[in-house]
Amino acid sequence: MDQSYWISSWIEKKKNYPKLQKEIQTEVAIIGGGLTGLTTAYYLSKAGKQVVVLEKDKICNHTSGNTTAKITSQHGLFYNYLLQSVGRKEAKQYLEANEQAIKNIAKIIEEENIACDFEWQDAYVFTQKPAEVEKIKKEVEALKYLGFHAEFMEQIPLPIQEKTKQIKENEINIQKKVLGAIRFEKQAQFNPCLYAQGLADKIQEKENQIYENSKVLDVKKQEDGYEVILEEGKVKAKIVVLSSHYPIINAPGFYFMKMYQETSYLIAVETKEPLWEGMYITSEQPTISLRTVKNGEKRLLLVGGMEHKTGAKIDLKNSYQQLEQVAKQLYPDSKVLYRWNTEDCISLDKIPYIGEFSNLWPNVYVATGYKKWGMTSSNVAATILTDKILGRKNLNEEVFQSTRLKPIKNYKELGNMVKEVSYSVLFNKLENIQEKIKDVKQKEGKIIEVEGKKVGVYRNEKGEIYAVKPYCTHLGCELSWNNLDNTWDCPCHGSRFTYEGKAIYAPAIKDLEKFYFPS
Ligand code: FES
Repeated sequence: MDQSYWISSWIEKKKNYPKLQKEIQTEVAIIGGGLTGLTTAYYLSKAGKQVVVLEKDKICNHTSGNTTAKITSQHGLFYNYLLQSVGRKEAKQYLEANEQAIKNIAKIIEEENIACDFEWQDAYVFTQKPAEVEKIKKEVEALKYLGFHAEFMEQIPLPIQEKTKQIKENEINIQKKVLGAIRFEKQAQFNPCLYAQGLADKIQEKENQIYENSKVLDVKKQEDGYEVILEEGKVKAKIVVLSSHYPIINAPGFYFMKMYQETSYLIAVETKEPLWEGMYITSEQPTISLRTVKNGEKRLLLVGGMEHKTGAKIDLKNSYQQLEQVAKQLYPDSKVLYRWNTEDCISLDKIPYIGEFSNLWPNVYVATGYKKWGMTSSNVAATILTDKILGRKNLNEEVFQSTRLKPIKNYKELGNMVKEVSYSVLFNKLENIQEKIKDVKQKEGKIIEVEGKKVGVYRNEKGEIYAVKPYCTHLGCELSWNNLDNTWDCPCHGSRFTYEGKAIYAPAIKDLEKFYFPS
């Protein structure tokens, strides 16, 4: 897969951390080395707690390192929805928690002297579609009702040249008049990987430990705490924080029944034209998100969006092309330097789950479901979880309460677990499917059927075949081929696997079963 600008610009400065291959004890075990895990570890270690961070890959290498890195409480058009769905008190908590998160991040960067290209910026949500204008006006009213300074604007600083050029159907056209917008003042942007490194340095200074390449397989409740079981080690801890983007433990908690995942795309382009200030996002779906980023003496333009449900059976090949089209409309000389995509967990009511993992497991905490707004949400989560662990009251925790919803999504998915076991036994007996894979072309992946059983097959550019059992190791849903990244993606809860079957996105942690064919 392609690599984000953030990870590419950090790679030479990145420090490495050891793999955990023994049994250790700690007060708090934090599973997941993204911004939530690292910020929680940072706050807890400052408060004198003993913490261990367990990352299955490299820190800040997944969702946190593949974001637009906007630090903002402006989460699209969200506050009118919140007012209608949870009421004024909780909508206000959400807004205040995210506004506070911006200040908290700025404070950490200043106090710890972290060089991460932090810049204060205004954020704008805007529309060019007449049908969206009323929604923007309602959002302004909702924000005013929450006591937040907001006004309806008909112009934004983004230099959009209106053109009458005919755009093909299904192509995004950014060269149109802006019809309405809302500005949030004093928001911010930064490089999340450089920030993550700064946090990690501070955690280590307090003699707490970060482990990389240390995959957690399970968490078991014990009489005196919890046992976190890794591929090659074990951690005994009194308190566990699940901050692995998607909780890797199914039960209790059942988060897979109250969340889904979306994939979205980003490109970073260079242009000779001078770039601008501000962060922008369209209100309509699929969204287009724009910001600029420091790149040495110059700035790059970041264009993001084109989200879709992960694992959807659609042709993904033009996801980046649409973004390139937008960049070219704005700057005809633009040249793509980086491109990447990311996954976001979305809760059924669109509010993150932050707090107790389950009423049945005391002292286990979770943070997930940030939609696409992980920069402020990670700090909101770290603040709430730190307060809970230290026994302090957090004024904004109620709206995020993680046990608020009973599992209400698709109970049928549980049935897949049962099918998975019996199916696997039969599947291993299949032999000689050479005939069936002849029609898989080079650089193509597809599911073929042999004796009524399905096999996921990918043929690379050299003609080599990779075959896997195309059922997700999380709860057994059938996988879809992703023809952009050459991965197997799960439409149920968004796990992803490489064409070789390696699990790369949770909630699945087990790799796919592989099949080998004589060449
Ligand atoms: Fe849950 Fe695939 S991610 S079944």
